[in-house]
Amino acid sequence: MAGEFRSKIAGIGSFLPEKVLTNFDLEKMVDTNNDWIVERTGIKTRHIAEPGVATSDLALQATQKALKMAGMTPHDLDMIIVATVSPDQMMPSTACTLQAKLGCRNIVAFDITAACSGFVYGLSVADQFIRTGMFKNILVIGGEVLHTLVNYEDRETCILFGDAAGAWILSATDASYPNIIMSSHLHADGNLGDLFVLPAGGSKIPFSQEVLDNKTQFVRMKGREIFKNAVRTMTECCHEALRANNVNPKDVDWLVPHQANLRILESVASHFEFPTEKVVVSLHETGNTSAASIPVAFDMAFQEGKIKRGQLILLAAFGAGLTSGSLLLRF
Ligand code: ACO
Repeated sequence: MAGEFRSKIAGIGSFLPEKVLTNFDLEKMVDTNNDWIVERTGIKTRHIAEPGVATSDLALQATQKALKMAGMTPHDLDMIIVATVSPDQMMPSTACTLQAKLGCRNIVAFDITAACSGFVYGLSVADQFIRTGMFKNILVIGGEVLHTLVNYEDRETCILFGDAAGAWILSATDASYPNIIMSSHLHADGNLGDLFVLPAGGSKIPFSQEVLDNKTQFVRMKGREIFKNAVRTMTECCHEALRANNVNPKDVDWLVPHQANLRILESVASHFEFPTEKVVVSLHETGNTSAASIPVAFDMAFQEGKIKRGQLILLAAFGAGLTSGSLLLRF
């Protein structure tokens, strides 16, 4: 290959656990109802992993599909990045656990914590390793078993989240190849970190009886504030990506945003002056699957024949941290 390297998307895959939790199921668990959930969020169902099934298990299923599409085996991989806020355990990383399950040779493996922006963060990091010529094939996962982090007595959060994993394999290609990652932009504003937190289980609040009594092992969210920031930040991210590439919104075939809430996606499309028909939406089936949401939505649209090879696609993410980011690619 010539001197300059870029990343092409060699393979993609996703996996949703079989078990489905509907809005009607939730009606029996908390004071909520299907109409409120659909009207305020767009979500109808979410998939939930069985007890004992961990993020690496979902990631493994998604990876096997991505490897098949890429025509690769685990031995072709040079690095594994897993974006997750629901790792199998605190240590070792889920990426190392996945590496062992895949039976890879001695390669680089690590996790990224950037919440719902994690997959875009992971792709951006992988793209840098490819651009420098250091690695050839990199597996990037967005995977979550979020139901374990959710308090099913808190109606404001438990209706939102689901479990899933998505996998992409990036491969080095010559810079003249047309279908590549064109740019990525990442952001974080830690000053707004208190809008969405999971307080316990780290070094600040280790596990104790008090944690269980106060339920601080579960996520806590200021929904309305998150909503406003999500719309503002994702709109800015969309503009930033197109400005950097001198691309007009009308030339973008699909916007694949983080799947948090249908009203957030509609507001972003409206502020970005982008047709809602070209916004990929999967949250009605999956709920918010955090780091898994973008690769899962992308793969579902690809399987449905909406997303096609050669199209120009914009990813936009937003999550706890607060983190955000965008990535423009020709698929
Ligand atoms: N069922 C019925 N009523 C509910 C429910 C529920 N599940 N949840 C809240 N309500 C009630 C509230 O108590 C409130 O009642 P009140 O008026 O008597 O006080 C009323 O509904 C309105 O509450 P709001 O919070 O104003 O509702 P809103 O329209 O903002 O919707 C929601 C809440 C869905 C959480 C919305 O704010 C949202 O989606 N925010 C973004 C959340 C998000 O994306 N979180 C993920 C973080 S980023 C990431 O993805 C990591």
